[in-house]
Amino acid sequence: MASLGQDKIVAVIGAGTMGAGVAQVAAAAGHPVLLFDVAEGAALKGIQGIAVGLDKLVVKGKMPAQERDALVARLTPASTLSELAPAALVIEAIVEKLEVKQSLFKQLEAIVAQDTIIASNTSSLSITAIGSALQHPERLVGMHFFNPAPIMKLVEVISGLATDKAIAHTVLDTANAWGKQAVHARSTPGFIVNRVARPFYAEGLRVLQEGGADVATIDALMRESGGFRMGPFELMDLIGHDVNYAVTCSVHAAYYYDPRFTPSLIQKELVDAGFLGRKTGRGFYDYSANAHKLEPQTAPTLTPSFESVTLIGDAPFAPTLVDLLTKAGISIEREASEDGAELILLAGDAIMSLTDGRTATQIAEEEGERDIVLFDLALDYAKATRIGIAAADQATPQALQDATAFWQALGKQVSILNDIAGLCVMRTVCMLANEGADAVNQQVCNAQAVDIAMQGGVNYPKGPLAWAQSLGVGRVVNVLDQLATGYGEDRYRTSPLLLRHALSGRALV
Ligand code: NAI
Repeated sequence: MASLGQDKIVAVIGAGTMGAGVAQVAAAAGHPVLLFDVAEGAALKGIQGIAVGLDKLVVKGKMPAQERDALVARLTPASTLSELAPAALVIEAIVEKLEVKQSLFKQLEAIVAQDTIIASNTSSLSITAIGSALQHPERLVGMHFFNPAPIMKLVEVISGLATDKAIAHTVLDTANAWGKQAVHARSTPGFIVNRVARPFYAEGLRVLQEGGADVATIDALMRESGGFRMGPFELMDLIGHDVNYAVTCSVHAAYYYDPRFTPSLIQKELVDAGFLGRKTGRGFYDYSANAHKLEPQTAPTLTPSFESVTLIGDAPFAPTLVDLLTKAGISIEREASEDGAELILLAGDAIMSLTDGRTATQIAEEEGERDIVLFDLALDYAKATRIGIAAADQATPQALQDATAFWQALGKQVSILNDIAGLCVMRTVCMLANEGADAVNQQVCNAQAVDIAMQGGVNYPKGPLAWAQSLGVGRVVNVLDQLATGYGEDRYRTSPLLLRHALSGRALV
């Protein structure tokens, strides 16, 4: 099925943040666009707002003036709903209330043609439920853009129970023709992005709640080690805690209180206090003019007490570490591991390995080695500028100092965490991959869609499933198993799909 022809009229209902953005996207793709809003003058104001935004692009030399003029000329304000009659596709972006959307669509069906496609930009309502009010629910699809719509690449195309497959395809192709990356999902709570992203916030909040690290340190680790554009706390402050907490609560309730989505009391406190983030001047961070800036905890620089390190066994990132050690002028001894166990690094007194979901304290007890120091996952150990480490409770201060000096010698800033299972980046990435795999397992979407959605909708540096793949699915399953055992919580249960891929070795994506 082909995309909608450029000559077809697109109507957008609701000229707020999202509606105006979607109207701009459709007009930029060459469609004549009708914009309607129930508030008087809002549609015209929306178009004027688009023009002002485009003017800036012209001034910066990013858009020719002619292109701006042609785009704006394709936008027409409508003053009544009946003016939308000639539209081939209507995209609704009004208030997020089921009854209001249903009532609008009932009116709309009496106006538009039989074959007009109706789309909703809802971010949380069920397309199936919205469709139940329509005479022809087969022509209703979700068309979930991300804010700001002209910039964010992703569009989630959502099918309700009654949605016609061919119509979903047309909308998918149309969004792609508009320069977006469209993915298809079944109408399920949170669709793809708002579901799979939950652990990004939740694991940060867990680490904070358990005193693993402070807000600024967790954010710094997720950025500088994990490669994410923003850490969970700065991102929640930007989104607004009222909004972010409400999404978590609604997904939690919609999945019949699955503990995987349990909201955080820490975030509830912020909402209760009215500390909603940037928009109120205070959230996890204080945004007032004279506020004390929170800095990540960074270990003071130490001089290594060792001249060589020993690498026992292997890991996918071992060559990177060898490279960094060579550049730092530290001599390396390599030993094969006797039992094919994980890569172990010996530097001075420190016995170091990548976190596997157990605490360092537990490993020290199980291995009968007190000087265990674990390090966190990095997206790329060559590019990471900070590494989180944690020592076993049994370890000597010298072991922690040696581990600190080791990473500093490799050019990293070091944040010393409390000994929390799975540290910070590792537990988050494993839980993101788990949620992504579970969405695939439950037939919400395919594996490629998960990775495209998380990169295009929330700018993740790597798709969670591709990340699991490169880490080794078996490793991810092991971390999750260790977290599940350590916490005794169903929250960390492994998705059956991850387990299958770990067992068969078949590629996830
Ligand atoms: P908004 O509050 O900025 O704009 C909503 C507009 O709809 C207002 O101009 C309002 O006057 C108009 N409106 C309300 N009821 C109407 C009706 N019955 N008929 C015509 N116009 C009506 O809201 P926003 O943020 O643009 O959200 C719109 C929709 O997009 C919601 O469903 C929301 O969940 C969804 N969404 C929002 C995102 C965001 O980041 N703001 C992201 C993705 C989806």
